[in-house]
Amino acid sequence: MHVLFATAEIEPLVATGGLGAASAGLVGGLRRQGVLVTPVIPGYESWALTDEQVIPLDAPAWVGGAVARVGVVDGLGDVAVIDSPSLRRPHPYVDPETGSGWRDNDHRFFAWSAAVAALAVRLQPDVVHVNDWHAATVLAHLPESTPTVLSIHNLAHQGWGDAGWADALGRRGGRFRWMGSVNALAGAISMADRVVTVSPNYAAEIRTERCGMGLDGLLSSRGSDLVGILNGIDTGDWDPARDPALVAPYDAGTVAGKSDNQAALCGELGLDAGPGPLVVSVSRFDYQKGIDLIAEVSHLLVGVPVRLALLGSGDRDTEETMARVADMHRGRIAFRQGYDAALAHRMFAAGDLAIIPSRFEPCGLTQMQAMRYGTLPIVSDVGGLRDTVIDADSSSRAGTGIVMGEVSGAGIVDGVHRGARLVTNKARAARVRARAMGSDWSWDEPAKRYASLYDGLVPTSEPVVEKAVEKP
Ligand code: GLC
Repeated sequence: MHVLFATAEIEPLVATGGLGAASAGLVGGLRRQGVLVTPVIPGYESWALTDEQVIPLDAPAWVGGAVARVGVVDGLGDVAVIDSPSLRRPHPYVDPETGSGWRDNDHRFFAWSAAVAALAVRLQPDVVHVNDWHAATVLAHLPESTPTVLSIHNLAHQGWGDAGWADALGRRGGRFRWMGSVNALAGAISMADRVVTVSPNYAAEIRTERCGMGLDGLLSSRGSDLVGILNGIDTGDWDPARDPALVAPYDAGTVAGKSDNQAALCGELGLDAGPGPLVVSVSRFDYQKGIDLIAEVSHLLVGVPVRLALLGSGDRDTEETMARVADMHRGRIAFRQGYDAALAHRMFAAGDLAIIPSRFEPCGLTQMQAMRYGTLPIVSDVGGLRDTVIDADSSSRAGTGIVMGEVSGAGIVDGVHRGARLVTNKARAARVRARAMGSDWSWDEPAKRYASLYDGLVPTSEPVVEKAVEKP
């Protein structure tokens, strides 16, 4: 089984959010299942590959020239990078000067997708698996007989383009016409042999008008061809017993070691030693994630009482508000702007609780990272958060965290109150923590499910049965 896996992000080369981690995790998991996977990504930089081979590509003229470099990268393995002048940028999607998307993103990713399809013609994989809108128009160029899978990591980004693209996109470009424009995701949803999204609950939610972002009818029409497969996390990288970022590594049996990590983090971030539990948050700052709601009620949270440590960046207003709030509550609220992987690890090791108040969440990774580190998540009741966290107040036997009643400032205050009560009761907290740390969030199961999905798409040739030779 050979899969060409087209994604705009993959760790460790490029990641702006969960897509980079999920792509790397799934590719690794599939390879452990014996599936041959070639990830193919846009050449935002001139990454050095070992054993590099350059493959010229027969892409349409408007692509403006593209070659594939195929080689090996440390920590990832085999990869193909598409080089084309328009792809080379300091950030995959956003102009750092203005904070808005590059104006030619439609051209950039449609061109990359055309080049990926040309690579597929050269490599003849058994399955082409495309991720999110960036790779969706690969399907416009492929022969109908090529088995295809589309993964939706986030329905909020659909890849709208001018109607004129329908003709440029190739023999099946017309399938991408949508509401008088071109919509990359809509086209691929209608064309892919299977559509996967990253949690079962999100797969159900997006069939409804409330969560379908205009594509619910189309998604529903795919019936059982649309499935939810929960993401995993890299349990090697996220292992509190072997984490080089921690002052005091620990496991479920030595979980008291968390307090040393908490003391160290409070020193590092200038937080007081009390009062109340430490609540952490590591997130992109955008509407989806609801971090603005935390800022709104921060004065009430300090009164619970809890201390707050936040790491994140994105929406500039939220960044500024957070900085101001942290300034007002020195010692009780700390905010670090940006993303720092080692600091994220230290925060999940140090926290008593983690808060994830997303307005919608296809899967979410940090709730799983938090649980693995024995930090109990307080989550909104949406998407993959619902699939991964069980409310400890509703289920004393199975609870692994707190599920908020509503996504709002009031919902957050209530959730944090309940979380603080939970971790203050030491015996109860220990039981819930043991369950959270004992859950399996590895990519093994998800990768098996993807592998069998691929198997179902590839016609198997008759097995060659050797005739038994009778012994003389
Ligand atoms: C996107 C989604 C997030 C998901 C990630 C990986 O970032 O917003 O919920 O976990 O993709 O699939």
